[in-house]
Amino acid sequence: MADTAATEVLNPDDPAGLARAAALLRAGELVAFPTETVYGLGADATDDRAVAAIFAAKGRPRFNPLIVHVTGREAAARQAVFPPLADALAARFWPGPLTLVLPRRDDSAVSLLCSAGLPSLALRVPDHPVAQSLLEAAGRPLAAPSANPSGRISPTTAAHVLRALEGRIAAVLDGGPCRVGVESTVLDLSEGTPCLLRQGGIAQEDLEGLTGPLQSAAAVDGPLRAPGMLESHYAPRLPLRLGVAQPRADEALLAFGPAVPEGAAETLNISPAGDLTEAAANLFAALHSLDRPDFAAIAVMPLPETGLGRAINDRLRRAAAPRPLSHRKVGT
Ligand code: TXA
Ligand code: MG
Repeated sequence: MADTAATEVLNPDDPAGLARAAALLRAGELVAFPTETVYGLGADATDDRAVAAIFAAKGRPRFNPLIVHVTGREAAARQAVFPPLADALAARFWPGPLTLVLPRRDDSAVSLLCSAGLPSLALRVPDHPVAQSLLEAAGRPLAAPSANPSGRISPTTAAHVLRALEGRIAAVLDGGPCRVGVESTVLDLSEGTPCLLRQGGIAQEDLEGLTGPLQSAAAVDGPLRAPGMLESHYAPRLPLRLGVAQPRADEALLAFGPAVPEGAAETLNISPAGDLTEAAANLFAALHSLDRPDFAAIAVMPLPETGLGRAINDRLRRAAAPRPLSHRKVGT
């Protein structure tokens, strides 16, 4: 793929825009598209070369597997084995922001690159009309990680996608801002005990109604079950300071709730009403817009560790974690 070609911005409400996106995907090109969580960087999941191009465009480590998006439970069952618990979860939460990691079927048509050497496959049915129409039109499963350079903040608008990947992908379908705003919850059912690999758009409490008490990947010993769960992730360029009661004068403040301290250089409130669903939807856009070199850091007010607050706090902790060398600002 030429690095200099312009990225087409396609209108999903125009049948020609959707048809163009599907044709590009069938030709092995990369097309970003909206889901209810974040924008995905889509490729034909059955095409090794197209899937490899995702890793190249994102600068993503090859050992980090990809989520495969399908139209529904039936399409998913052609690629992976569904234990009874997976069936119950799919019936309750699909379409929606839940990714199930399941034993890969031997006859799966999905590129082995999506599994990154694991015997499992991560599957998800997105709850977004554009994503659904695109899957239908493409007529095949789509591999799609979040459409951001590896380790950076996920995109919740087409403008975020273009800012980072313009010229590196064939097209983006502009479906407006994403409703949920944080990535899907990833639940591993490929081994005996269910394991929560990533907090996300479906709250742990809601899953536990069906699964019983869940253990999370952080608590599991042995090899890393979610290769993507590197400490530093979702990172803006600026350092983050968490749990801040009083911001400094040179900091931008990411605020939450009605009682906001004064004194920051700039303040952005992701939910003045203190609503975690609204906060999740606004989180990444706020981090994108506060990540400016005229601030010394982004100070973040504390958020409750319940419901979607768990996913929000997880992303914030990762954004605040020590960065790999390549993410540090040179010379500062
Ligand atoms: O909401 C979402 O899930 C978005 C939208 C576009 O669907 N996608 C997304 O993909 O966040 P990505 O690639 O950024 O994150 C996928 C996560 C990674 O942490 C990856 O390691 C994990 O899922 N994963 C994928 N396949 C896996 C597998 N077979 N076993 C364990 N973890 C897996
Ligand atoms: Mg991602």
